[in-house]
Amino acid sequence: MRNFIISIRGGRPLAGSVAVAGAKNAALPELAAVCLTPEALELANVPQVEDIRVMAAALRALGAEGQGEDALPDGPRGHRLRLAMPQLRAPLVTPEIARTTRASVLLLGPMLARCGEARVSMPGGCPIGERKIDFHLLGLQRMGAEIRAEGEYLVARCRRLRGIDFSFPGKTVTGTENLLMAAALAEGTTVLRNCAREPEVADLAALLVAMGADVEPDGEETWVVRGREALHGARHRVIPDRIEAGTYLIAGCFAGNDVRVEGAEPAHLGSLLEILAAMDADVEVGAGAFRARGGRRLRPAAVVTEPYPGFPTDLQAQLTTLFTQADGVSRVRETIFNDRFRHVGELNRLGAAIEVRGDEALVRGPARLHGAVLRTTDLRASAALVLGGLAAAGETRIENAYQLFRGYEDMPGKLQALGAEIAIEEE
Ligand code: EPU
Repeated sequence: MRNFIISIRGGRPLAGSVAVAGAKNAALPELAAVCLTPEALELANVPQVEDIRVMAAALRALGAEGQGEDALPDGPRGHRLRLAMPQLRAPLVTPEIARTTRASVLLLGPMLARCGEARVSMPGGCPIGERKIDFHLLGLQRMGAEIRAEGEYLVARCRRLRGIDFSFPGKTVTGTENLLMAAALAEGTTVLRNCAREPEVADLAALLVAMGADVEPDGEETWVVRGREALHGARHRVIPDRIEAGTYLIAGCFAGNDVRVEGAEPAHLGSLLEILAAMDADVEVGAGAFRARGGRRLRPAAVVTEPYPGFPTDLQAQLTTLFTQADGVSRVRETIFNDRFRHVGELNRLGAAIEVRGDEALVRGPARLHGAVLRTTDLRASAALVLGGLAAAGETRIENAYQLFRGYEDMPGKLQALGAEIAIEEE
């Protein structure tokens, strides 16, 4: 696999506009929905990121074909994608695919619904215990699927899935999406309760409705799905990526910067806007846009990650980098994932003063950041380190930067356009 090093000469002010791409985490389940019909889905505003390419490759292995000028020999090249799966050839997700993106679990429900069978690789531990997809599996089992572990594969079989009344034991984004897709083709009515409320879930539901599914919200956390015999092709535009928008909004708040974020959905970023207001950051909200300027003294703040509409775990690392510039001690509590502070040690190499105590990080600011050689471990941590490198004096090198491209479309290019001195080289 190709990997990259990002090098940054920090301390250059960022100024100008940046356009937000489509939401990776909406496009992923929407691509999986290609399994639900033999007809074509046409998706617009699909982000050009690695996780999407891997999902497209997984679909091709299942029998999906690209159509027209947007046909994809190697994954999406443009932002528009037209895909159809006239036949689901072999309902199999290989270890190579599953290792690269966990989102391949989103194929489980749709494959079962389409052909009553699925084999999905679950590398890295016992699939049913440690991988934490137990709520997906519980729901599918209740719908009539038989699921067992076979080596590193999860093997599922069913006749036609049947409707159920199911309350998720805990909030899960892809779990909600998996069961919504499965229920769309199930026999009878499914009521899903305690569902994740992330905007990406509602966007998937909108696509399913466009495909002829009978999917309806009942309040904020319940979906009622009356199963159909078949779904048809549809066209759909993916919502803007709130995490990418939030990342550039945070970038604008560092000293000396003046960044406009365009093509965003401010309604999806209420929790971030609240925190930035508490920090007294200079942020203006417009129609589909933000403007953030650095320069004011930033107050410290406290944040707790929560399911939507709470503060997203996917912006926790980036906000932590901004907290290093606030005047005092900020607190970050991570409640969604139990190992999501790996960026902290790397930020400390840049001169930050952050201490992790259990599920909380204490960030002492303001820190004078200086360049360093860093190694990134995951997608959002990568963005946090890039923000740190931009704010640091001197050169920062970030190794294993493949991670960044899993979910950010051309971040180096977008930052260069804002005036950053940033380059990528092959590792
Ligand atoms: N959980 C369970 N059992 C389950 C499912 C989840 O215990 O069956 C636990 C998880 O272990 C975790 C929490 O519930 O502690 C939330 O997990 P969730 O299922 O909501 O996460 P996900 O669906 O696997 C999606 C995003 C993530 C994002 C999380 C939380 C996609 C493709 N991925 O993951 O995105 O962090 O929701 O909002 O939608 C990213 O884009 O960088 C990213 C990691």
